Amino acid sequence: MDSTVRALGLGEAETIEVLTAAALAPSVHNTQPWRFRLGADRIEVHADPARRLPATDPDDRELRLSCGAALFNLRVALQARGIRPLVTLLPGADAPGALAVVRRGGTFPLDEETRELHKAIPARRSNRKPFRDVPVPVEHRQALVRATERERTWLHVVATGEERARLQKLVAKAHRVQSEDAGVRTELSSWTGPRATDGVPAGSAGVRPAPQDEWARRDFQAAERLPGKDFESDPLVTVLCSYYDGPLAELQAGQALQRLLLTATTLGLAVSFMSQPVEVKSVRDELRRDLGGLVPQAVLRIGFGSPVPPTPRRAVTELLLDPVPTSR
Ligand SMILES: Cc1cc2nc3c(=O)[nH]c(=O)nc-3n(C[C@H](O)[C@H](O)[C@H](O)COP(=O)(O)O)c2cc1C
Repeated sequence: MDSTVRALGLGEAETIEVLTAAALAPSVHNTQPWRFRLGADRIEVHADPARRLPATDPDDRELRLSCGAALFNLRVALQARGIRPLVTLLPGADAPGALAVVRRGGTFPLDEETRELHKAIPARRSNRKPFRDVPVPVEHRQALVRATERERTWLHVVATGEERARLQKLVAKAHRVQSEDAGVRTELSSWTGPRATDGVPAGSAGVRPAPQDEWARRDFQAAERLPGKDFESDPLVTVLCSYYDGPLAELQAGQALQRLLLTATTLGLAVSFMSQPVEVKSVRDELRRDLGGLVPQAVLRIGFGSPVPPTPRRAVTELLLDPVPTSR
């Protein structure tokens, strides 16, 4: 192993461990669009431009959400080793091209919550299968809302039948727009299904969409659906929102997304994404108006699921940029 795989005073094995934790974050189509640059005093998080989705995510918004989620895992993994992470988002000339830079901010007394979040990192996964028909308890919902508030974002809970029907229409509308877009279709088929060597494997695809589904779903080329395998009638549906637009808000929202997903995992909850209405600009604008101006970043379905397999990740060694020169 390259002797430069060290940062923040950690040994090589520990450095690899914290980067492995970061890379277990969710990402759109499992593109894993992150790279890391190590220095004695820092870990920089960069986007990987080779893993952009120009048709599905033309502004790189979901790329930054994904990198924000990886950054949150990195924060938790450092805290689990007693390091208080000092994070600068969009550091500019201090770390050219980086989305974030993490330095040592002293020691961190490990608390029970962080220990649980850390344990949840390898256990969390997107669950596209039907959930059990059991409602999410109010206290669980409150814990998820608090998790997103801690990261300076807002979790909108879809509360009424009317609102739910409206959101279902927006999901269906955006889904139609994307189904007619050859670029979006090509990205989906190259990152998912039997031909994908990376991305979302068939075993994680959930079940095939069917006409009776209330929520329009992406077809990840799952195996044929067995009769009776229908979706739960009343999932908890939420919209993770930022208070403003732009890259900084997206990096914050990515961290909030991951705190929410790890918190859900600790509570035994499963989560899947329904991103069509936040990916199609005109529909996203409609949804934003419905939310009174809050910026919708991710639409999530939450409930009690059955086990699903993990998706593959790139090796950490593939994620490393040339180290920061010692003079910097
Ligand atoms: C910003 C973002 C958007 C996503 N959108 C969708 C989506 O619309 N549909 C879906 O099934 N999964 C979606 N995912 C989940 C990814 O496909 C998933 O994270 C990836 O395949 C890795 O799997 P894992 O989450 O089980 O580790 C999204 C993930 C992120 C971070």
